[in-house]
Amino acid sequence: MKNKKIFLAEQDIPKQWYNLVADLPEAPAPPLGPDGKPVTPDMLASVFPMNLIEQEMSTQRWIDIPEEVLEILYRWRPAPLRRAVYLEEYLKTPARIYYKDESTSPPGSHKPNTAVPQAWYNKKFGIEKLTTETGAGQWGSALSFACDIVGLECKVYMVRISFDQKPLRKIMMRLWGGNCVASPSEETSFGREILRKMPDTPGSLGIAISEAIEDAVSDKTGKTRYALGSVLNHVMLHQTIIGLEAKKQLKLAGEKQPDIIIGCAGGGSNFAGLSFPFVCDKINGADITIIPTEPTACPTLTRGPFKYDCGDMACKTPLLAMFTLGHSFVPPPIHAGGLRYHGMAPLVSHAVKEGLLEPRAYDQVKCYESALLWAKTEGAICAPETSHAIACAIEEAEKAKEEGKEKVILFNYSGHGLMDLSGYESFLDGKLTRYSLSEEELKKSLESIKDLPEVGT
Ligand SMILES: Cc1ncc(COP(=O)(O)O)c(C=O)c1O
Repeated sequence: MKNKKIFLAEQDIPKQWYNLVADLPEAPAPPLGPDGKPVTPDMLASVFPMNLIEQEMSTQRWIDIPEEVLEILYRWRPAPLRRAVYLEEYLKTPARIYYKDESTSPPGSHKPNTAVPQAWYNKKFGIEKLTTETGAGQWGSALSFACDIVGLECKVYMVRISFDQKPLRKIMMRLWGGNCVASPSEETSFGREILRKMPDTPGSLGIAISEAIEDAVSDKTGKTRYALGSVLNHVMLHQTIIGLEAKKQLKLAGEKQPDIIIGCAGGGSNFAGLSFPFVCDKINGADITIIPTEPTACPTLTRGPFKYDCGDMACKTPLLAMFTLGHSFVPPPIHAGGLRYHGMAPLVSHAVKEGLLEPRAYDQVKCYESALLWAKTEGAICAPETSHAIACAIEEAEKAKEEGKEKVILFNYSGHGLMDLSGYESFLDGKLTRYSLSEEELKKSLESIKDLPEVGT
Protein backbone atom coordinates (compact mmCIF):
# COMPACT_ATOMS: atom_id res chain seq x y z
CA MET A 1 0.00 0.00 0.00
CA LYS A 2 1.19 3.51 -0.81
CA ASN A 3 1.40 5.83 2.21
CA LYS A 4 -0.79 8.85 1.69
CA LYS A 5 0.22 10.86 4.74
CA ILE A 6 3.70 11.25 6.17
CA PHE A 7 3.72 12.71 9.67
CA LEU A 8 6.63 14.13 11.58
CA ALA A 9 6.66 13.67 15.36
CA GLU A 10 6.28 16.90 17.34
CA GLN A 11 9.74 16.53 18.85
CA ASP A 12 11.22 16.43 15.33
CA ILE A 13 9.92 19.88 14.37
CA PRO A 14 12.80 22.04 13.03
CA LYS A 15 14.21 24.19 15.86
CA GLN A 16 15.92 26.71 13.55
CA TRP A 17 14.95 28.64 10.41
CA TYR A 18 17.17 28.49 7.33
CA ASN A 19 18.53 31.71 5.80
CA LEU A 20 19.33 31.30 2.09
CA VAL A 21 21.38 34.53 2.06
CA ALA A 22 24.24 32.62 3.72
CA ASP A 23 24.57 30.25 0.74
CA LEU A 24 23.84 32.39 -2.32
CA PRO A 25 26.80 32.43 -4.71
CA GLU A 26 26.48 36.24 -4.97
CA ALA A 27 25.11 38.61 -2.31
CA PRO A 28 21.70 40.08 -3.22
CA ALA A 29 21.58 43.82 -3.99
CA PRO A 30 20.68 45.77 -0.82
CA PRO A 31 17.45 47.75 -0.39
CA LEU A 32 18.01 51.46 -1.05
CA GLY A 33 16.76 54.48 0.90
CA PRO A 34 15.47 57.74 -0.60
CA ASP A 35 19.08 58.99 -0.86
CA GLY A 36 19.93 56.06 -3.17
CA LYS A 37 22.18 54.50 -0.50
CA PRO A 38 21.63 51.11 1.20
CA VAL A 39 19.14 51.41 4.06
CA THR A 40 20.44 51.20 7.61
CA PRO A 41 18.53 49.46 10.43
CA ASP A 42 17.52 52.75 12.09
CA MET A 43 15.82 53.88 8.84
CA LEU A 44 13.35 50.99 9.23
CA ALA A 45 12.78 51.46 12.96
CA SER A 46 9.50 53.38 12.69
CA VAL A 47 8.02 50.55 10.58
CA PHE A 48 9.39 47.32 12.14
CA PRO A 49 10.71 46.37 15.59
CA MET A 50 14.52 46.12 15.79
CA ASN A 51 14.54 42.36 16.55
CA LEU A 52 12.83 41.71 13.17
CA ILE A 53 15.05 44.28 11.40
CA GLU A 54 18.05 42.25 12.64
CA GLN A 55 16.57 39.12 11.07
CA GLU A 56 15.81 41.04 7.88
CA MET A 57 19.45 41.97 7.50
CA SER A 58 20.98 38.78 8.86
CA THR A 59 23.46 36.72 6.84
CA GLN A 60 23.57 33.95 9.48
CA ARG A 61 22.68 30.53 7.99
CA TRP A 62 20.60 29.18 10.89
CA ILE A 63 18.45 31.25 13.27
CA ASP A 64 16.90 29.71 16.40
CA ILE A 65 13.11 29.57 16.59
CA PRO A 66 12.16 30.82 20.08
CA GLU A 67 10.63 28.10 22.26
CA GLU A 68 7.51 30.27 22.87
CA VAL A 69 6.99 30.59 19.10
CA LEU A 70 7.29 26.81 18.68
CA GLU A 71 4.71 26.36 21.46
CA ILE A 72 2.22 28.32 19.33
CA LEU A 73 3.19 26.61 16.07
CA TYR A 74 2.57 23.17 17.64
CA ARG A 75 -1.16 23.93 17.31
CA TRP A 76 -0.87 22.64 13.73
CA ARG A 77 2.82 21.91 13.04
CA PRO A 78 4.54 19.78 11.95
CA ALA A 79 2.16 19.92 8.99
CA PRO A 80 1.55 16.65 7.12
CA LEU A 81 3.31 15.77 3.90
CA ARG A 82 0.76 14.02 1.72
CA ARG A 83 1.02 11.96 -1.44
CA ALA A 84 -1.56 12.69 -4.14
CA VAL A 85 -2.08 9.03 -5.04
CA TYR A 86 -5.63 9.55 -6.36
CA LEU A 87 -4.44 12.23 -8.78
CA GLU A 88 -1.47 10.04 -9.76
CA GLU A 89 -3.87 7.16 -10.53
CA TYR A 90 -6.17 9.43 -12.55
CA LEU A 91 -3.26 10.78 -14.58
CA LYS A 92 -1.70 7.30 -14.92
CA THR A 93 1.64 8.93 -14.29
CA PRO A 94 4.79 7.18 -13.08
CA ALA A 95 5.55 10.38 -11.10
CA ARG A 96 5.14 10.38 -7.33
CA ILE A 97 3.40 13.63 -6.35
CA TYR A 98 3.92 14.88 -2.80
CA TYR A 99 2.49 18.03 -1.31
CA LYS A 100 3.09 19.86 1.92
CA ASP A 101 -0.32 20.54 3.41
CA GLU A 102 -0.26 24.08 4.78
CA SER A 103 -4.07 24.26 4.75
CA THR A 104 -4.25 22.66 8.20
CA SER A 105 -3.33 25.84 10.11
CA PRO A 106 -6.21 27.53 11.97
CA PRO A 107 -6.68 30.30 9.33
CA GLY A 108 -6.14 27.76 6.53
CA SER A 109 -2.82 28.66 4.89
CA HIS A 110 0.95 28.97 5.34
CA LYS A 111 0.62 32.59 6.46
CA PRO A 112 0.61 31.98 10.26
CA ASN A 113 4.13 30.48 10.00
CA THR A 114 5.34 34.09 9.85
CA ALA A 115 2.35 35.86 11.46
CA VAL A 116 3.10 34.11 14.75
CA PRO A 117 6.82 35.00 15.00
CA GLN A 118 6.16 38.52 13.70
CA ALA A 119 3.49 39.13 16.35
CA TRP A 120 5.69 37.51 19.02
CA TYR A 121 8.80 39.61 18.22
CA ASN A 122 6.70 42.80 18.15
CA LYS A 123 5.17 41.97 21.53
CA LYS A 124 8.63 41.23 22.92
CA PHE A 125 9.75 44.67 21.68
CA GLY A 126 6.91 46.40 23.56
CA ILE A 127 4.63 47.05 20.57
CA GLU A 128 0.85 47.13 21.21
CA LYS A 129 -0.70 47.24 17.72
CA LEU A 130 0.12 45.92 14.25
CA THR A 131 -1.20 47.20 10.94
CA THR A 132 -1.13 45.25 7.71
CA GLU A 133 -2.54 44.74 4.23
CA THR A 134 -4.28 41.64 2.96
CA GLY A 135 -5.13 40.42 -0.53
CA ALA A 136 -7.22 37.28 -0.40
CA GLY A 137 -7.72 37.71 3.35
CA GLN A 138 -5.50 34.76 4.28
CA TRP A 139 -2.74 37.02 5.62
CA GLY A 140 -5.16 39.36 7.42
CA SER A 141 -6.81 36.43 9.16
CA ALA A 142 -3.43 34.84 9.97
CA LEU A 143 -2.17 38.05 11.56
CA SER A 144 -5.45 38.59 13.44
CA PHE A 145 -5.10 35.02 14.78
CA ALA A 146 -1.45 35.56 15.80
CA CYS A 147 -2.12 38.96 17.40
CA ASP A 148 -4.99 37.48 19.36
CA ILE A 149 -2.75 34.75 20.78
CA VAL A 150 0.14 37.02 21.76
CA GLY A 151 -2.07 39.94 22.86
CA LEU A 152 -1.76 42.69 20.22
CA GLU A 153 -4.31 44.87 18.47
CA CYS A 154 -4.54 44.25 14.70
CA LYS A 155 -5.73 46.56 11.91
CA VAL A 156 -6.09 45.11 8.40
CA TYR A 157 -6.44 46.99 5.09
CA MET A 158 -8.06 44.51 2.72
CA VAL A 159 -7.86 44.98 -1.06
CA ARG A 160 -11.33 46.19 -2.15
CA ILE A 161 -11.98 43.44 -4.72
CA SER A 162 -11.25 40.68 -2.17
CA PHE A 163 -13.18 42.56 0.53
CA ASP A 164 -16.23 42.23 -1.74
CA GLN A 165 -15.47 38.71 -3.05
CA LYS A 166 -14.60 37.14 0.31
CA PRO A 167 -16.94 38.41 3.03
CA LEU A 168 -16.34 35.36 5.23
CA ARG A 169 -12.66 36.25 5.70
CA LYS A 170 -13.77 39.51 7.36
CA ILE A 171 -15.75 37.51 9.91
CA MET A 172 -12.70 35.32 10.63
CA MET A 173 -10.61 38.43 11.29
CA ARG A 174 -13.31 39.89 13.52
CA LEU A 175 -13.58 36.64 15.43
CA TRP A 176 -9.84 36.84 16.24
CA GLY A 177 -10.16 40.52 17.20
CA GLY A 178 -8.84 42.03 13.94
CA ASN A 179 -10.31 45.27 12.59
CA CYS A 180 -10.65 44.97 8.79
CA VAL A 181 -11.46 47.81 6.36
CA ALA A 182 -11.60 47.89 2.56
CA SER A 183 -8.63 49.50 0.80
CA PRO A 184 -8.46 52.14 -0.55
CA SER A 185 -10.14 53.52 2.58
CA GLU A 186 -11.11 56.92 3.93
CA GLU A 187 -8.87 56.27 6.95
CA THR A 188 -5.51 57.33 5.51
CA SER A 189 -4.50 60.32 3.41
CA PHE A 190 -3.16 58.00 0.69
CA GLY A 191 -6.42 56.01 0.63
CA ARG A 192 -8.45 59.24 0.29
CA GLU A 193 -6.18 60.45 -2.52
CA ILE A 194 -6.61 57.19 -4.46
CA LEU A 195 -10.38 57.21 -3.93
CA ARG A 196 -10.52 60.75 -5.32
CA LYS A 197 -8.50 59.78 -8.41
CA MET A 198 -9.92 56.27 -8.98
CA PRO A 199 -13.26 55.93 -7.15
CA ASP A 200 -14.02 52.55 -8.77
CA THR A 201 -10.59 50.94 -8.32
CA PRO A 202 -10.59 47.25 -7.26
CA GLY A 203 -7.58 48.18 -5.10
CA SER A 204 -4.23 46.43 -5.04
CA LEU A 205 -1.77 45.08 -2.52
CA GLY A 206 0.49 48.05 -3.40
CA ILE A 207 -2.22 50.51 -2.30
CA ALA A 208 -3.14 48.53 0.84
CA ILE A 209 0.52 48.33 1.93
CA SER A 210 0.84 52.13 1.59
CA GLU A 211 -2.22 52.61 3.78
CA ALA A 212 -1.04 50.17 6.45
CA ILE A 213 2.44 51.75 6.64
CA GLU A 214 0.97 55.25 6.84
CA ASP A 215 -1.29 54.12 9.69
CA ALA A 216 1.65 52.58 11.61
CA VAL A 217 4.16 55.42 11.24
CA SER A 218 1.63 58.15 12.02
CA ASP A 219 0.80 56.73 15.47
CA LYS A 220 2.28 59.28 17.88
CA THR A 221 2.55 56.80 20.79
CA GLY A 222 5.29 54.87 18.92
CA LYS A 223 3.58 51.62 19.95
CA THR A 224 2.31 50.64 16.47
CA ARG A 225 4.30 48.84 13.83
CA TYR A 226 3.57 47.38 10.41
CA ALA A 227 3.73 43.67 9.49
CA LEU A 228 4.18 42.39 5.93
CA GLY A 229 2.86 38.96 4.95
CA SER A 230 5.40 38.25 2.23
CA VAL A 231 8.28 39.71 0.15
CA LEU A 232 10.78 40.56 2.92
CA ASN A 233 13.73 38.38 3.91
CA HIS A 234 12.49 37.70 7.45
CA VAL A 235 9.17 36.44 6.07
CA MET A 236 10.97 34.02 3.71
CA LEU A 237 13.07 32.94 6.69
CA HIS A 238 10.06 32.11 8.91
CA GLN A 239 8.45 30.12 6.11
CA THR A 240 11.45 27.80 5.68
CA ILE A 241 9.99 25.62 8.41
CA ILE A 242 7.83 24.22 5.56
CA GLY A 243 10.76 22.99 3.46
CA LEU A 244 12.77 21.84 6.47
CA GLU A 245 9.88 19.65 7.63
CA ALA A 246 9.30 18.41 4.06
CA LYS A 247 12.93 17.30 3.76
CA LYS A 248 12.64 15.13 6.87
CA GLN A 249 9.28 13.75 5.71
CA LEU A 250 10.54 12.86 2.21
CA LYS A 251 13.30 10.85 3.89
CA LEU A 252 10.66 9.07 5.99
CA ALA A 253 8.82 8.30 2.72
CA GLY A 254 11.99 6.71 1.37
CA GLU A 255 12.70 9.41 -1.24
CA LYS A 256 16.29 10.60 -1.74
CA GLN A 257 15.39 14.03 -3.10
CA PRO A 258 12.64 15.63 -5.18
CA ASP A 259 13.25 16.12 -8.93
CA ILE A 260 10.79 18.99 -9.20
CA ILE A 261 9.65 21.53 -6.61
CA ILE A 262 6.72 23.85 -7.23
CA GLY A 263 5.06 26.69 -5.34
CA CYS A 264 2.74 29.50 -6.38
CA ALA A 265 4.31 32.92 -5.97
CA GLY A 266 2.53 36.17 -5.10
CA GLY A 267 5.13 37.92 -2.98
CA GLY A 268 7.11 34.67 -2.88
CA SER A 269 6.79 33.46 0.72
CA ASN A 270 5.17 30.00 0.50
CA PHE A 271 7.29 29.20 -2.55
CA ALA A 272 10.46 30.31 -0.73
CA GLY A 273 9.41 28.49 2.42
CA LEU A 274 9.15 25.15 0.67
CA SER A 275 11.98 25.57 -1.80
CA PHE A 276 14.84 27.49 -0.13
CA PRO A 277 16.20 24.51 1.87
CA PHE A 278 16.30 22.63 -1.47
CA VAL A 279 17.75 25.64 -3.34
CA CYS A 280 20.68 25.23 -0.92
CA ASP A 281 21.06 21.61 -2.16
CA LYS A 282 20.86 22.84 -5.75
CA ILE A 283 23.62 25.39 -5.10
CA ASN A 284 25.65 22.45 -3.78
CA GLY A 285 25.12 20.40 -6.95
CA ALA A 286 21.74 18.62 -6.60
CA ASP A 287 19.79 18.23 -9.84
CA ILE A 288 16.40 19.76 -8.95
CA THR A 289 14.07 21.83 -11.11
CA ILE A 290 12.50 24.52 -8.93
CA ILE A 291 9.46 26.34 -10.32
CA PRO A 292 7.63 29.40 -8.94
CA THR A 293 4.23 29.76 -10.64
CA GLU A 294 2.21 32.93 -11.16
CA PRO A 295 -0.88 34.18 -13.03
CA THR A 296 -0.61 35.35 -16.65
CA ALA A 297 -2.67 38.32 -15.40
CA CYS A 298 0.14 39.35 -13.04
CA PRO A 299 3.29 37.90 -14.65
CA THR A 300 5.96 39.47 -12.45
CA LEU A 301 8.70 36.86 -12.78
CA THR A 302 7.97 35.77 -16.35
CA ARG A 303 7.55 39.20 -17.96
CA GLY A 304 8.66 41.95 -15.58
CA PRO A 305 12.15 43.47 -15.60
CA PHE A 306 14.60 42.96 -12.70
CA LYS A 307 14.91 46.48 -11.33
CA TYR A 308 14.81 48.61 -8.22
CA ASP A 309 11.19 49.42 -7.36
CA CYS A 310 9.08 50.36 -4.36
CA GLY A 311 7.13 47.66 -2.54
CA ASP A 312 3.98 49.81 -2.39
CA MET A 313 2.14 52.27 -4.56
CA ALA A 314 2.92 55.39 -2.51
CA CYS A 315 6.64 54.50 -2.45
CA LYS A 316 6.85 54.53 1.35
CA THR A 317 9.04 51.39 1.37
CA PRO A 318 12.74 51.30 0.51
CA LEU A 319 13.61 50.47 -3.09
CA LEU A 320 13.87 46.70 -3.48
CA ALA A 321 15.87 44.88 -6.18
CA MET A 322 13.23 42.62 -7.66
CA PHE A 323 11.26 41.51 -10.67
CA THR A 324 8.41 43.99 -10.94
CA LEU A 325 5.52 45.13 -13.08
CA GLY A 326 5.86 48.66 -11.68
CA HIS A 327 4.47 49.88 -8.36
CA SER A 328 1.51 51.64 -10.03
CA PHE A 329 0.31 48.31 -11.48
CA VAL A 330 -3.28 47.49 -10.57
CA PRO A 331 -3.77 43.86 -11.61
CA PRO A 332 -6.99 42.66 -13.24
CA PRO A 333 -9.55 41.40 -10.70
CA ILE A 334 -8.69 37.70 -10.90
CA HIS A 335 -9.77 35.49 -8.01
CA ALA A 336 -6.26 34.58 -6.80
CA GLY A 337 -6.09 37.77 -4.70
CA GLY A 338 -2.83 36.72 -3.02
CA LEU A 339 -1.04 36.58 -6.38
CA ARG A 340 -2.04 40.10 -7.43
CA TYR A 341 1.19 41.82 -6.38
CA HIS A 342 3.37 43.93 -8.69
CA GLY A 343 6.72 42.80 -7.24
CA MET A 344 8.43 39.65 -5.99
CA ALA A 345 10.55 38.88 -2.93
CA PRO A 346 14.11 40.13 -3.53
CA LEU A 347 15.48 36.72 -2.50
CA VAL A 348 13.23 34.85 -4.94
CA SER A 349 14.03 37.44 -7.63
CA HIS A 350 17.75 37.09 -6.99
CA ALA A 351 17.57 33.29 -7.20
CA VAL A 352 15.73 33.60 -10.55
CA LYS A 353 18.44 35.98 -11.75
CA GLU A 354 21.08 33.44 -10.71
CA GLY A 355 19.36 30.74 -12.78
CA LEU A 356 18.38 28.68 -9.74
CA LEU A 357 14.63 28.89 -10.44
CA GLU A 358 12.48 28.49 -13.56
CA PRO A 359 9.29 30.57 -13.28
CA ARG A 360 6.10 29.76 -15.22
CA ALA A 361 2.75 31.53 -15.66
CA TYR A 362 -0.75 30.02 -15.98
CA ASP A 363 -4.09 31.62 -16.80
CA GLN A 364 -6.91 31.46 -14.28
CA VAL A 365 -9.13 29.14 -16.34
CA LYS A 366 -6.37 26.51 -16.57
CA CYS A 367 -5.82 26.94 -12.82
CA TYR A 368 -9.48 26.44 -11.95
CA GLU A 369 -9.60 23.40 -14.28
CA SER A 370 -6.68 21.98 -12.30
CA ALA A 371 -8.37 22.86 -8.99
CA LEU A 372 -11.51 21.06 -10.15
CA LEU A 373 -9.55 17.93 -11.11
CA TRP A 374 -7.85 18.13 -7.70
CA ALA A 375 -11.23 18.34 -5.93
CA LYS A 376 -12.55 15.38 -7.92
CA THR A 377 -9.50 13.17 -7.27
CA GLU A 378 -7.93 14.21 -3.96
CA GLY A 379 -11.21 15.63 -2.63
CA ALA A 380 -10.00 18.91 -1.17
CA ILE A 381 -10.94 22.39 -2.41
CA CYS A 382 -7.76 24.42 -2.80
CA ALA A 383 -7.21 28.17 -2.57
CA PRO A 384 -7.21 29.89 -5.99
CA GLU A 385 -3.54 30.80 -5.39
CA THR A 386 -2.64 27.17 -4.71
CA SER A 387 -4.27 26.09 -7.99
CA HIS A 388 -1.33 27.73 -9.81
CA ALA A 389 0.99 25.19 -8.18
CA ILE A 390 -1.41 22.31 -8.88
CA ALA A 391 -1.62 23.28 -12.59
CA CYS A 392 2.15 22.99 -12.82
CA ALA A 393 2.30 19.73 -10.82
CA ILE A 394 -0.24 18.19 -13.22
CA GLU A 395 1.73 19.47 -16.22
CA GLU A 396 4.94 17.95 -14.84
CA ALA A 397 3.24 14.64 -13.97
CA GLU A 398 1.94 14.42 -17.55
CA LYS A 399 5.41 15.17 -18.87
CA ALA A 400 6.86 12.40 -16.68
CA LYS A 401 4.29 10.04 -18.24
CA GLU A 402 5.29 11.06 -21.78
CA GLU A 403 8.94 10.55 -20.88
CA GLY A 404 8.21 7.35 -18.95
CA LYS A 405 10.19 8.66 -15.96
CA GLU A 406 9.52 8.04 -12.25
CA LYS A 407 9.95 11.62 -11.11
CA VAL A 408 9.38 12.87 -7.58
CA ILE A 409 7.29 16.04 -7.63
CA LEU A 410 6.88 18.12 -4.47
CA PHE A 411 4.60 21.13 -4.29
CA ASN A 412 3.25 23.44 -1.67
CA TYR A 413 -0.44 23.19 -0.91
CA SER A 414 -0.46 26.74 0.41
CA GLY A 415 -4.08 26.91 1.54
CA HIS A 416 -7.66 25.71 1.30
CA GLY A 417 -10.29 27.51 -0.72
CA LEU A 418 -13.30 27.15 1.56
CA MET A 419 -13.57 30.92 1.93
CA ASP A 420 -12.99 31.45 -1.80
CA LEU A 421 -16.02 29.71 -3.26
CA SER A 422 -17.29 32.69 -5.26
CA GLY A 423 -14.34 32.20 -7.66
CA TYR A 424 -15.33 28.56 -8.09
CA GLU A 425 -18.91 29.65 -8.73
CA SER A 426 -17.80 32.03 -11.51
CA PHE A 427 -15.68 29.24 -12.99
CA LEU A 428 -18.50 26.66 -12.87
CA ASP A 429 -20.86 29.22 -14.44
CA GLY A 430 -18.37 29.71 -17.29
CA LYS A 431 -17.87 33.38 -16.42
CA LEU A 432 -14.07 33.42 -16.14
CA THR A 433 -11.79 34.55 -18.95
CA ARG A 434 -8.19 33.58 -19.65
CA TYR A 435 -6.67 36.91 -18.57
CA SER A 436 -3.23 37.61 -19.89
CA LEU A 437 -1.58 40.97 -19.38
CA SER A 438 -1.25 42.80 -22.71
CA GLU A 439 2.07 44.26 -23.88
CA GLU A 440 0.42 47.68 -23.92
CA GLU A 441 -0.69 47.49 -20.27
CA LEU A 442 2.72 46.21 -19.23
CA LYS A 443 4.50 49.04 -21.04
CA LYS A 444 2.19 51.62 -19.48
CA SER A 445 2.73 50.24 -16.01
CA LEU A 446 6.51 50.12 -16.37
CA GLU A 447 6.48 53.87 -17.13
CA SER A 448 6.24 54.49 -13.36
CA ILE A 449 9.67 52.97 -12.77
CA LYS A 450 11.65 54.13 -15.77
CA ASP A 451 13.61 56.67 -13.69
CA LEU A 452 14.34 54.32 -10.79
CA PRO A 453 17.88 52.91 -10.52
CA GLU A 454 18.96 49.76 -12.30
CA VAL A 455 20.34 46.96 -10.14
CA GLY A 456 24.13 46.88 -10.03
CA THR A 457 24.70 50.42 -11.31
C1 LIG B 1 -3.27 30.44 0.03
C2 LIG B 1 -2.26 31.40 -0.49
N1 LIG B 1 -1.27 30.93 -1.25
C3 LIG B 1 -0.33 31.75 -1.75
C4 LIG B 1 -0.35 33.11 -1.51
C5 LIG B 1 0.69 33.97 -2.14
O1 LIG B 1 1.52 34.60 -1.23
P1 LIG B 1 3.05 34.21 -1.13
O2 LIG B 1 3.62 34.27 -2.51
O3 LIG B 1 3.65 35.19 -0.22
O4 LIG B 1 3.10 32.83 -0.57
C6 LIG B 1 -1.36 33.65 -0.71
C7 LIG B 1 -1.41 35.08 -0.41
O5 LIG B 1 -2.32 35.63 0.09
C8 LIG B 1 -2.34 32.76 -0.19
O6 LIG B 1 -3.33 33.22 0.58
